[in-house]
Amino acid sequence: MASAAFQVEGALDEDGRAPSVWDVFARRPGTVRDGHSPAVACDHYHRWEQDVDLLDRLGVNAYRFSIAWPRVVPTGRGAVNGAGLDFYDRLVDALLERGVAPVPTLFHWDLPQALEEEGGWSARGTAPAFAEYAAAAADRLGDRVDRWITLNEPLVHMVYGHVFGVHAPGRTLDVPGALEVAHHLLLAHGLAAGELRSRGLEVLLTNNYSPAEPATGADAGAARAYDALHNRLFTDPVLTGAYPDLSAFTAGEVPGVREGDLDLIAGSADGIGVNYYNPTPVTAPDEGSGLPFGFGEVPGAPVTAFGWPVVPEGLGRMIDLLRARYGDALPPLYVTENGCSYEDSVSVGGRVADPDRIAYLEGHVAAVEAARERGADVRGYFVWTLTDNFEWAEGYHQRFGLVHVDHGTQRRTPKDSFAWYRELIASRTGGQSPTASKGPLS
Ligand code: FCB
Repeated sequence: MASAAFQVEGALDEDGRAPSVWDVFARRPGTVRDGHSPAVACDHYHRWEQDVDLLDRLGVNAYRFSIAWPRVVPTGRGAVNGAGLDFYDRLVDALLERGVAPVPTLFHWDLPQALEEEGGWSARGTAPAFAEYAAAAADRLGDRVDRWITLNEPLVHMVYGHVFGVHAPGRTLDVPGALEVAHHLLLAHGLAAGELRSRGLEVLLTNNYSPAEPATGADAGAARAYDALHNRLFTDPVLTGAYPDLSAFTAGEVPGVREGDLDLIAGSADGIGVNYYNPTPVTAPDEGSGLPFGFGEVPGAPVTAFGWPVVPEGLGRMIDLLRARYGDALPPLYVTENGCSYEDSVSVGGRVADPDRIAYLEGHVAAVEAARERGADVRGYFVWTLTDNFEWAEGYHQRFGLVHVDHGTQRRTPKDSFAWYRELIASRTGGQSPTASKGPLS
């Protein structure tokens, strides 16, 4: 099961937390659908015990959550806020008591605003600041947490946050500016990986992956360009030590790369996190879009409330592609996010029927199992997400949870998919407690 701090915690001003880029961005009119506020989200900061109990009932043996950098190092670099770390300390202990392995992500898009004001990810200095924060978190939790994720979906953060401006920090950089952001994110990952590994900890990098499928033979070049951006930009440097061919985007080099950077980034992951939601059908570019590709549709595929096509085999194809592309350089894989949004509501009897979500998850779990049978080393599967939460620019409109949340009362109601997933886990662990099982993380 997976979640992220800013999407669930609320309590944005408590215990010394300072604003993140998302606090500031979400206050700007027109950034979040219907002006929804992240101030309370799922109130997880206060209701975390209830949420841990839900995880326990579900029977998962791992929980991916994120640590809010602005709680731990409110000004981005320098003084560590012990009270901020206390929250995660308690959470980690509570998870372990229930046999759930904590898998923290250090950066799920909530950069301290203080760093944004010094240039954010355009500034090289943000990378060592991230490594210092990673070291502080590992010093506090590393005695109990052995597997860490550095960044969540840096590509999405770069494109939505720094090119399209529809996510925080809402910047609209040109291609060289965006690639410089990418390089600093990778450098941050590499430096943090060094800190974590020097403490004997395991490091994962989580990317969003989407097989880029040309709509026709004539669209193959466009699909290659999309693939380079979406699937390779944040993976090739880590697994091969070099940037992919970005000639569809720029005639120049990636800005900001200094001697030694790529050596540091190369080989800096002990595992790759795969977030998969849907494939991307690619067409030739639309006139005047400025992009080297266009987007098509998957004929006949059902879509989620978000409009994302449901194609479970796409996950299997993506895993196969990663294996074929990187061969022996590919470390173990973990599906660190997979899920779907639907317009779920609580019936008079208190039930939330979500058959489409059950079908979605069933299909994707089967796709992972089929990929494993073909030889893929996939060691974990995390559903996105436990509770309906603040879905970035969509506010509370997209419900991805296995647990329905009434955002007025904070009442949590497990959906039918919750019961289905609990049964699935119980059938895999022979009814034993998940701690007793040697099965993959779920
Ligand atoms: C991913 C994000 C996650 C969530 C899901 C639906 O791109 O990592 O925070 O918003 O999409």
